Amino acid sequence: MKVCKYKRVEVWSSIIQSQKLLLANNIFETNIKTNMKKISIVCIVIVLIITSCSSAKLNFRAYPTLKDEINEYNLTGVDTLVDIGCNWGFMTEFIEYKYPSMYFIVEDLPEFTNYVKNKQMVTQSCVSKTLRFMKKKYEFVAGFVDSIPLPSNFYKRVLCRKTVHEFTNVEKMVSELTRILKSDGELIIAEPEPLPGYEYDKYCKRKHLTAEEIIKIFSHLRLIKSSKIPYKEGNITWQMAVLRFTKN
Ligand SMILES: C[S@@+](CC[C@H](N)C(=O)[O-])C[C@H]1O[C@@H](n2cnc3c(N)ncnc32)[C@H](O)[C@@H]1O
Repeated sequence: MKVCKYKRVEVWSSIIQSQKLLLANNIFETNIKTNMKKISIVCIVIVLIITSCSSAKLNFRAYPTLKDEINEYNLTGVDTLVDIGCNWGFMTEFIEYKYPSMYFIVEDLPEFTNYVKNKQMVTQSCVSKTLRFMKKKYEFVAGFVDSIPLPSNFYKRVLCRKTVHEFTNVEKMVSELTRILKSDGELIIAEPEPLPGYEYDKYCKRKHLTAEEIIKIFSHLRLIKSSKIPYKEGNITWQMAVLRFTKN
């Protein structure tokens, strides 16, 4: 009788033991799963932070003179910038990096729209923006060779960088740039000045413009400031003419 009782106790204690082991095992597994989840979330956040910060930082390292050029734009306190001839948003990304709360209206020709939407703009500019701020901070507008589909007398800052020399209808585009600008707004024109042996843009095959030629083209506006900033592209250092105009 005693032996039987002893055996029952033994069986019970082994059952309890195995249950305890199972429970401990379960707790251990759940802990591992939760920790793994936490670790992967932390890793994702770290990757997001590094990716979002690195692109503009690395590019600034590759293009150190752009900081000085952007300083010449006089954009402090500006909430919206219109970038005419934005291409894939190269400059937009740098300006956004310096002025993170700025909103951008980026414009280029329609044949460029798909290119911008599917490739460059998506990878270069908007992704870094979306990652960094988790929200869309720009609007892409498809333009025309002789007009800009934006309202008149509306924008305080309009930038047109490395684009005036590409206009096929300069007269019309100049009048369009003037039209969208507010009376107290500023139009910023940036153009790399021709260098001996580099008089023509190797991409569009058009002639580069000197600061004097740009001032002449925009002679109906008042020139606020004209400066020349070194601009390094590959092994060549250009002089980027930065000219700020206003209607008043
Ligand atoms: C050399 S890229 C300038 C890119 C950019 N602004 C930068 O600084 O890197 C010139 C751009 O001007 C655009 N463009 C030429 N004519 C234009 C027009 N009439 N309206 C809008 N964009 C134009 C071209 O499609 C091209 O993307």
